[in-house]
Amino acid sequence: MKILIENIRELAGIESEGKLMRCGKEMNRLETLNDAYLFIADGKIASFGLMTQMHNDCHINNANAWQTIDARGKMVFPSFCDPHTHLVYAGSREIEYIDKIKGLSYEEIAKRGGGILNSAKLLHDTPLESLVEQAQVRLDEIIKLGTGAVEIKSGYGLNTEDELKILRVIQKLRETSPLTIVSTFLGAHAVPAAYKGKQGEYVDLIINEMIPAVAAEELADYIDVFCDKGFFTVEETERILMAGMKYGMRPKIHANELDYSGGIQVGVKYNALSVDHLEYTGDEEIATLLGSETMPTLLPGASFFLGMIYAPARKMMNAGLPVAMASDFNPGSSPSGNMQLILSLGCIKYKMTPEEAINAVTLNSAYAMGLSEEMGSITVGKKANVFITRPIPTYAFMPYSYGSNKVDTVILNGVVV
Ligand code: NIG
Ligand code: FE
Repeated sequence: MKILIENIRELAGIESEGKLMRCGKEMNRLETLNDAYLFIADGKIASFGLMTQMHNDCHINNANAWQTIDARGKMVFPSFCDPHTHLVYAGSREIEYIDKIKGLSYEEIAKRGGGILNSAKLLHDTPLESLVEQAQVRLDEIIKLGTGAVEIKSGYGLNTEDELKILRVIQKLRETSPLTIVSTFLGAHAVPAAYKGKQGEYVDLIINEMIPAVAAEELADYIDVFCDKGFFTVEETERILMAGMKYGMRPKIHANELDYSGGIQVGVKYNALSVDHLEYTGDEEIATLLGSETMPTLLPGASFFLGMIYAPARKMMNAGLPVAMASDFNPGSSPSGNMQLILSLGCIKYKMTPEEAINAVTLNSAYAMGLSEEMGSITVGKKANVFITRPIPTYAFMPYSYGSNKVDTVILNGVVV
């Protein structure tokens, strides 16, 4: 199967091979080509260039058949990579949304048994097949919005059987969806009601029972802990991360959403692939992240939806750090997986330039899910996960025109979906 996209107004997000992330000032550069073509063969990006040079392209000259797509007036981007979601969940939580409108905080709702515990109860009562169906609807929606890879966490099980159930749902989705999916075990998302006042025992259960069971079925690539005020401490986080790492699960953790929790420091200490949220990030946390291999991953949708403070993205980039962004798609703090909206929020609320925001949802976010060698940019040899926009004048129009879907045609694994 081969596809030639020709007459592309602007092909955006071009990177040389081996470039795995953009940091600091470099984030403000987005390589593009005007009046370009892109040739896709066998699921991969085979070649690209200027229309005026297309007759010299040996990949096209040696091919005997392909589908042609005329992209006149349109742009082509690498698909969005969404490195932090909880999109396998049962039902919805708009009741709490109303409580929030009336003034209750996220922590107050959680204390009343709402929040994550509410979703855990719903998940327990929902059969696996129904969870697959509900998640499938969400996956279909994000595909249409331009996402090509997504990370999905467990964490609405909170007992061994239900954590395995949610991870098996993710496994099923992985087998059937054209999206690239990575899976994260988040048993330490909240302390279940049965362990109230016995948090240490729940941590023991995660370490002694859940992690070995998850590893035995090879259900998770990464391990996560909600290391924050009112949830899990730094010490508990360390114990859980060490246990997961023994089974080859690299940390990718929730940190500093509700306070200066020490989560960033513990994440870097254990070489986390990413530390996520980071609303409470000061000079000390930035210094810790500098020189590490850990991607700071920001979730502006959660700050927006909860009406909370925003992570200091500008300060982080000015200090030379890379920044990635994710949707955090979940029923409590960000019930949307729309990465185009995240792009707009990055510009509006973090004061990112369109170039910085686009890099944060493509190359850098691919890094935050361990995929930047194979996705996140227009690079020869990378997986052909790209989208063609409807006619738009510039790439800045993507974040500018917030709230509408600019994606026209989606290509995943080299196939139009
Ligand atoms: O990333 N912060 C912790 N977990 C989720 C919220 C999950 C929920 O409220 O259901 C988050 O925002
Ligand atoms: Fe989250």
